[in-house]
Amino acid sequence: MADRYAVFGYPIHHSKSPFIHSEFARATGQALTYEAIEAPPATFGETVAAFFAAGGRGANVTLPHKEAALRLADEATDRAKLAGAANTLAVAAHGLLADNTDGVGLVRDLRRRWQVPLAGQRILIFGAGGATRGILGPLLAEGPELLVISNRTAARAEALLAHFQPHAHAVHTTLATLPWGTTARLYPPFHLVLNATSMSLGDEAPPLTTAILAPEAVAYDLMYAATPTPFLALASRLGAAQIIDGLGMLVEQAAESFALWRGVFPATEPVFQKLRAQLAASSAKTSAAAATVAATSALPCAAETNPASKADGAK
Ligand code: ATR
Repeated sequence: MADRYAVFGYPIHHSKSPFIHSEFARATGQALTYEAIEAPPATFGETVAAFFAAGGRGANVTLPHKEAALRLADEATDRAKLAGAANTLAVAAHGLLADNTDGVGLVRDLRRRWQVPLAGQRILIFGAGGATRGILGPLLAEGPELLVISNRTAARAEALLAHFQPHAHAVHTTLATLPWGTTARLYPPFHLVLNATSMSLGDEAPPLTTAILAPEAVAYDLMYAATPTPFLALASRLGAAQIIDGLGMLVEQAAESFALWRGVFPATEPVFQKLRAQLAASSAKTSAAAATVAATSALPCAAETNPASKADGAK
């Protein structure tokens, strides 16, 4: 029988993980199944336990269960402990192993797919929630010159600063915070600006300014969509040299999980290209439907409602 894998989340119907892992399995000749399992927070622990008791070999975990996934595992990798959250569970010698492949997935996407340098660079991150916590360790490990966190709730940024300071010291990176909405140039312009907030879901963008962006700057949104997220659109207007969304990170973190489970690292570019094409096709379909509605409906605002413009979470 094929080995069984799954992704747990709530909600989970939007997940691209079953598609991604089926593609990886086909390309690498691995016999496995991968399903999406919806698990409300109240029953997450028992749902996961039942899955592994029935022979499940590994799982991905997405919102809102990443912290709970780390807690229920018997052991955890250093990067999962540092992130305080896990997106991957695997059957190991002494029980369940928790790992977090989000940050390393981001770094692979930036460095390998887009050739964005990180060592010696100045990096700004908007947001100080779980997404930021998940990527800080792997970003710091690349040895940037300066890594600055800006968050609406300053205390959350300060808490991350304290938690990650030893890791910054180890690689001689200056780790600092920037008050939310600062327009003054408190630091030299940044080479890379990341949006790790969930603002795209509300069609909003963090307070990016020209004082923040270096002329050759790259803007990266951890979320992805068929069209540029509000943050990427703003960065483009402000003159960013390159805008990148989180679709590549999604594929790379999945590949890292797949490699942990199966011992083989799948090629990611074909899957990335297929997902990009699917997104473009769904956006074209939605626009066409919206145009039809607008042409036949008495409601003049119908064409403005385009769900494809909302970013999906990077899972
Ligand atoms: P995740 O695990 O996806 O990071 P989270 O922990 O809820 O989710 O964090 C969401 C992040 O987006 C936070 O940095 C949050 O800022 P606060 O810490 O101030 O809440 C940020 N965020 C979400 N909506 C925002 C908004 N409308 N304006 C500014 N920041 C927002």
